[in-house]
Amino acid sequence: MIPETKLNILQELINTSSKEEIIWINGYLNGLVSGHGTPATAKPSQPVKKISILYGTETGNSKKLALQFTTVAKQHALNARCTAVDQYRHEDLVKEGYLFIVISTQGEGEPPEAAKKFYDFLHTTEARLENLKYSILALGDSSYPLFCKTGEDVDAQLQRLGATRVLPVQKCDVDYEQPAEDWFKSVINLLGAGQHALQPVAAVPALSNDVAKKHTKKNIEGVITRSVNLNDKDSTRRTWHIEIRADEDLDYEAGDSIAIVPTNRPEVVERIIELGKADPEEQVNLAKSAGTIRELLAGKLNICYLLGSAVKKYAVLSGHEIPEIRMDLVDLLRIYPLKDGTPFAEVLNILHPIAPRLYSVSSSPKMEPREVHITVSLNGFLKQDEQHYGLCSSFLGDLPVDTVVIFYVHRNRSFKLPAPDKDIIMVGPGTGIAPFRGFLQERDVEAAPGRNWLFFGERNFTSDFFYQTEIQQYHETGVLHKVNVAFSRDTDKKIYVQHKMKEHGKDLYNWLVKGAVFYVAGSKVPMSQEVEEALLGIIEEHGGKSERGAKEFLEQMKKEGRYQKDVY
Ligand SMILES: Cc1cc2nc3c(=O)[nH]c(=O)nc-3n(C[C@H](O)[C@H](O)[C@H](O)COP(=O)(O)OP(=O)(O)OC[C@H]3O[C@@H](n4cnc5c(N)ncnc54)[C@H](O)[C@@H]3O)c2cc1C
Ligand SMILES: Cc1cc2nc3c(=O)[nH]c(=O)nc-3n(C[C@H](O)[C@H](O)[C@H](O)COP(=O)(O)O)c2cc1C
Repeated sequence: MIPETKLNILQELINTSSKEEIIWINGYLNGLVSGHGTPATAKPSQPVKKISILYGTETGNSKKLALQFTTVAKQHALNARCTAVDQYRHEDLVKEGYLFIVISTQGEGEPPEAAKKFYDFLHTTEARLENLKYSILALGDSSYPLFCKTGEDVDAQLQRLGATRVLPVQKCDVDYEQPAEDWFKSVINLLGAGQHALQPVAAVPALSNDVAKKHTKKNIEGVITRSVNLNDKDSTRRTWHIEIRADEDLDYEAGDSIAIVPTNRPEVVERIIELGKADPEEQVNLAKSAGTIRELLAGKLNICYLLGSAVKKYAVLSGHEIPEIRMDLVDLLRIYPLKDGTPFAEVLNILHPIAPRLYSVSSSPKMEPREVHITVSLNGFLKQDEQHYGLCSSFLGDLPVDTVVIFYVHRNRSFKLPAPDKDIIMVGPGTGIAPFRGFLQERDVEAAPGRNWLFFGERNFTSDFFYQTEIQQYHETGVLHKVNVAFSRDTDKKIYVQHKMKEHGKDLYNWLVKGAVFYVAGSKVPMSQEVEEALLGIIEEHGGKSERGAKEFLEQMKKEGRYQKDVY
């Protein structure tokens, strides 16, 4: 298996090494085998006693892993402290010895909302972190153009500040359990964690059943069985209720989302082929996909609103000076044509894959295990005063019944129903109603004794009251104990859900005090911010609290998982 000469070298190395050094070598080799590349060289001369674990999460995966890792570390006699990055005091960074960060990437390569302050701090501080040793577990989804970018950025900043990376960034895709577990093992071994670390690698406990319930990015094929526009024909908006049916029971929970990758518009693809003087049938092999130029442009590569980094690469390729602003590929080719003779296939190399779009599931598997429903609002925006529509929402809205669609489930561990006997308050204007339709179906099917209160809002009562009949029926049958609606364009003064919350502030506060879970879903800005402001105001007024007292009350609710958001 291994030549004698090498075995002798290894034997000599072992004979001349201390226990701690052997432990370190073990971690080093484990890192290499599990694909980490060559780990950096910081080795602890003493077994490490104290470590800090930070997590930055949007949908709970990083938190779950960080807590799990903390348990593992404690089982190895390490004094491990686990903190959410938004609860972490930045000034403590200079005092840390060993720091391990579990962090996901959101948006278009951005940090999770709660990690933004920490991320910005790392990018702006001039603190020197020479004493800090660290490693990063970066969560992401390789379907996105900027895979695990936040983890990489945090790593780069810690390097800039002089910290020592003890293991390379471990990037994890959606099926993160195994690489995360390998990373835990490498860290534990690397740290030489007291007596316990002398156990073989396999002795690191496996993830708990809950976490170990593997989540793979399984592409599921479903057929659209129903697609209806929930807005009346007079409405200024279009919002589709789409039902998708699979051939198997689906593994999701109310509160999760599904991810869909749209295809590009055929007329835009043909225009690109024309402008790029491309042979549409030419076969091209790219790092992540292969096919003819037409196939790649139609179904694999993002041609809309390219990221600045892709525009920059196109400028180099085409030899034009182009401002680094986001642009559609068709405009780039039109305004800054390729030089004659540049093979079009080179343009394909600078394009990112089409990013998946998420849609909150508006059904419960307990109602219909093979179906998943979504509520999709047509995304409209103006470009040079001309009306344009978002890629995926218009793609979904155009799909007729019987079309086959491919999707995968995106778990949201931070947006879940509580025990059946707990009360819930749901604030979901617009498409924010989606997850609450799923919640209500589930509470109905389970005859849950907890009380349910819904706030819904849209523009006009007559044309935009999504799921009106269902909501009224739930109210009549007692599933919904309270419903408050706000139709902003029906009155002279605009009324939104947050105004309705304030109107019912006393009752709302009483529900909170009795343990209700408060949910908000839909638009992040400004809706969810204004809802939070209203909530704080209600706690202040009806709880007789100061501004600070109200914030502490809400913080406590967050800690108890009683303030949950599904906002975008
Ligand atoms: C957890 C989560 C749950 C969600 N749930 C829902 C849901 O239940 N229902 C729902 O409808 N949506 C939901 N969304 C939003 C959804 O994922 C999509 O973001 C939304 O449908 C818009 O996607 P699109 O492809 O239609 O628009 P895109 O094509 O991605 O465009 C989005 C925006 O980018 C800009 N843009 C795009 N192209 C150009 C261009 N050429 N020039 C200038 N600007 C441009 C515009 O501002 C445009 O509005 C959710 C998102 C998340 C993260
Ligand atoms: C709206 C949205 C945008 C995302 N953008 C990216 C991205 O740009 N790059 C990436 O690698 N992963 C991206 N992801 C995937 C998440 O990082 C991944 O689902 C991760 O497991 C989430 O971990 P968390 O629950 O700790 O936030 C995105 C996920 C969502 C919901």
